[in-house]
Amino acid sequence: MGVLKRYGTKLPITGKTPSVNLEEGSTPLVRLDRIGETLGVELWAKLEGCNPSGSFKDRGMVLAVAKALEDGAKALVCASTGNTSASAAAYAAHVGLPCYVLLPSGKVALGKLAQALIYGAKVIAIDGNFDKALEMAREAAEERSFAMVNSVNPYRLIAQKTGAWEICESLGRAPDIHAIPVGNACNISAYWAGYKEFKEWGQIPSLPKMMGFQAEGAAPLVTNEPCPNPETIATAIRIGNPVSAELARKAVRESGGQFNSVTDDEILKAQLMLAKDGGIFAEPASCATLAGLIKLKAAGKLPEGATAVMILTGNGLKDPDTALSQAGRPIKIGSTLKELLEALV
Ligand code: F0G
Repeated sequence: MGVLKRYGTKLPITGKTPSVNLEEGSTPLVRLDRIGETLGVELWAKLEGCNPSGSFKDRGMVLAVAKALEDGAKALVCASTGNTSASAAAYAAHVGLPCYVLLPSGKVALGKLAQALIYGAKVIAIDGNFDKALEMAREAAEERSFAMVNSVNPYRLIAQKTGAWEICESLGRAPDIHAIPVGNACNISAYWAGYKEFKEWGQIPSLPKMMGFQAEGAAPLVTNEPCPNPETIATAIRIGNPVSAELARKAVRESGGQFNSVTDDEILKAQLMLAKDGGIFAEPASCATLAGLIKLKAAGKLPEGATAVMILTGNGLKDPDTALSQAGRPIKIGSTLKELLEALV
């Protein structure tokens, strides 16, 4: 029914807020028994790639765009590693606003680029990384009085909490472990805020440990210093100076959780495992969660029998190049049954 309808009473919506709805949210929470058995936990995956633009961004974007309309914004602007731009462009198209997106040139997965373009956003590829693009987008938004829809926009974080509420409603409690990829650190901060609120409201008895996973080449929250030249195959989280770093640190500290990094190789192995042993195709950044849980297990830091939820933030189809680089190739044959039978081994 859309995030604004399902959770409207818990969100800052007024009589003047236009209803915007692409049927985002209410994403599946899938139990993964085969992988869970390997890890010795009850494992669940929240399929945020099932949102209308294929990533978790739609939850926060719907409120940010509704509020931009309410405030009479003339256009939306954002910087992005790909998913925010796809989401902003989709909602801008849906409500009929112009949208400008700044991307790090050559570092955005193919599907995400195609999305921003087909939804009709003006796509500007800058000679710099996401952190630089964000700085430029903020300045431009101020100059032109456009609505800035990155997670510096408070409505993004507020509506993003709905992910935590859905998990608690599905499980009837919070998980013991919440595993999430961390880039600009908005999502982990919002989930923690959402869980805490549900506990305050008496909906859940306990809180999860927040386990944030970054890519080794872009891990400022693990090394505790900004990373000037972030690099990883998981381009969605190729971020060196997270905007919500302080909130994320607080979430991890308060929950008794941890930040950890995983290598690109571990991310790719986890992507393959999720697909082959789980039937789920998630983009590389999302797979940092499974890679991280595998790492914790190997270090003896994953409690046996715990309930763990992984936030699979984006759909695997967004980055076909990376998937094809490790997924093998079709077997080519002619058109005879003999050849086919030989191939069926
Ligand atoms: N996973 C995916 C698929 C993402 O696209 C992002 C962020 C993250 C995880 C990290 O979330 O930033 O809240 O810590 N993507 C942003 C973008 C930066 O521009 O699409 P975060």
